[in-house]
Amino acid sequence: MSEKEKTIIRHSDLGLSKAEIDSLSSQVTKLVTEYFSQVSDLPVFPQTSGEPTIAHLESRLPLAGEPLEKLLADCREIIKGIRHNGHPRQFGYVASPSTPAGAFADLIASTVNVNVTAWRSAPAATELERMVVRWLGSMIGYSEEAQGLLTSGGSMANLIAMLIAHRAKAKDDIARKGLWSCGPPMTIYASDQVHMSIQKAADILGIGRDQVRTIESDDKFHLNVRALREKVQEDLRSGLKPFCVVASAGTVNTGAVDPLNEVSDLAAEFDLWFHIDGAYGAPATLDERKRSLFRGLNRADSVSLDAHKWLYVPIDAGCLLFRDQAAARAAFAADEADYIKVLEQPDSDEAFAFWDYGIELSRRFRALKIWLTFRCYGITRIAATISEDNSLAEYLGRCVHEADDFELLAPVELSICCFRYLPKGWNARLLAAPAAERVYLDEELDQLNTRIMLAVQRGGQAYLSNATLRGRFALRACITNFRTTQADIDKTLDVIRDAARREMG
Ligand SMILES: Cc1ncc(COP(=O)(O)O)c(C=O)c1O
Repeated sequence: MSEKEKTIIRHSDLGLSKAEIDSLSSQVTKLVTEYFSQVSDLPVFPQTSGEPTIAHLESRLPLAGEPLEKLLADCREIIKGIRHNGHPRQFGYVASPSTPAGAFADLIASTVNVNVTAWRSAPAATELERMVVRWLGSMIGYSEEAQGLLTSGGSMANLIAMLIAHRAKAKDDIARKGLWSCGPPMTIYASDQVHMSIQKAADILGIGRDQVRTIESDDKFHLNVRALREKVQEDLRSGLKPFCVVASAGTVNTGAVDPLNEVSDLAAEFDLWFHIDGAYGAPATLDERKRSLFRGLNRADSVSLDAHKWLYVPIDAGCLLFRDQAAARAAFAADEADYIKVLEQPDSDEAFAFWDYGIELSRRFRALKIWLTFRCYGITRIAATISEDNSLAEYLGRCVHEADDFELLAPVELSICCFRYLPKGWNARLLAAPAAERVYLDEELDQLNTRIMLAVQRGGQAYLSNATLRGRFALRACITNFRTTQADIDKTLDVIRDAARREMG
């Protein structure tokens, strides 16, 4: 090969000049600043339907680059077509605003683009993640020495927890032999209010959705421990192998916190892995008024929580905490591939690898946005916003309870309020109706409230989601938003009443 042939001249550098980066960053910062200052005034949900949402954007694969000004203008159009989780009257699902600090942390994380697979690939990011995990563990009163890892969200944290639990309690080497050689089905227990990610995890892991034994919750939507005991005993008599119980610390439907201490006692008695799904509710331990609900949380084998829900950190920021690092490692560690062999002292910090504790190999630098959010605001201030969210949900619950055109459908335990619109006079009708007629009236109310919810969502002034509680359709407001005020709650009730009037003609 001649010298000339050996020389490769690079023409395809994707970097930008310093001046171009300056221009890009000032334009992006302007967009972000505008968004944060205007989000409260935008329609919560766009006035659009499927196709027109992006119809004005160029749909052909872009072969040549375009000016940044045009692209940022398009970004503004895209932003118009989203549901704004930062809007103070966005109460659907469990969707929080991100803080400006968290948003900029994400930009830094993407800029350095570190891959947090293991210490050797990301020394500082790995140490920071392990520190943030300990912070989260001590912050919610789980353990000062909590181990664990950050995940995409609560579903992933629950999936990893179910895998660790299953492997820890199985007698056979499932990792090598597969499930089919492991004898009778192994069963998981949870209330009928448990998040669907537990059934999904059982499905993915080959345990099977039917092996998640859902126990009917009590009248306040808590796990009924007596019924739980009976089910475990019945399954043992039938030759099944109970291995795990999942308690919710803040159910997705109503925010109910299961009796953690009692569940823990039962788990110990039957040698079950005790997992707590605190994806939504665990941060409420920071509200002193709510802390007693979480007694027993420190006794769990594992806990899921989402910083991207009630700690106002941008998505994705889930976390799984556990105390038995060896059990977690045993579920995941494999030394089949040469490229993951860590040639450091086995127990040193430098040998630490997240792939030994979870499913993902390539992982974003999630810890930075949690770390920056906590350092920027401090836990005291974050705790105050959580407590205010709880107070606003209690206020909504009181308004609903005292009104003669609403009915509260579940106790307000944390920051979720479930209720329905009940036209004036209907309460007396319902009470007087014989059982058969009551079913018919309830169905009519379900339909009316479904139409009201859709009308409110499409109206863009407020956004509620729904829950099915004892077969009834409930409007559901989940308040995890530091921008929401009492006036927003009042306004939302007015918006619902207006929608109801329109729907009833
Ligand atoms: C109690 C509970 N668990 C798990 C999840 C799933 O979390 P993610 O959406 O982060 O996967 C949710 C989501 O709302 C939840 O409320």
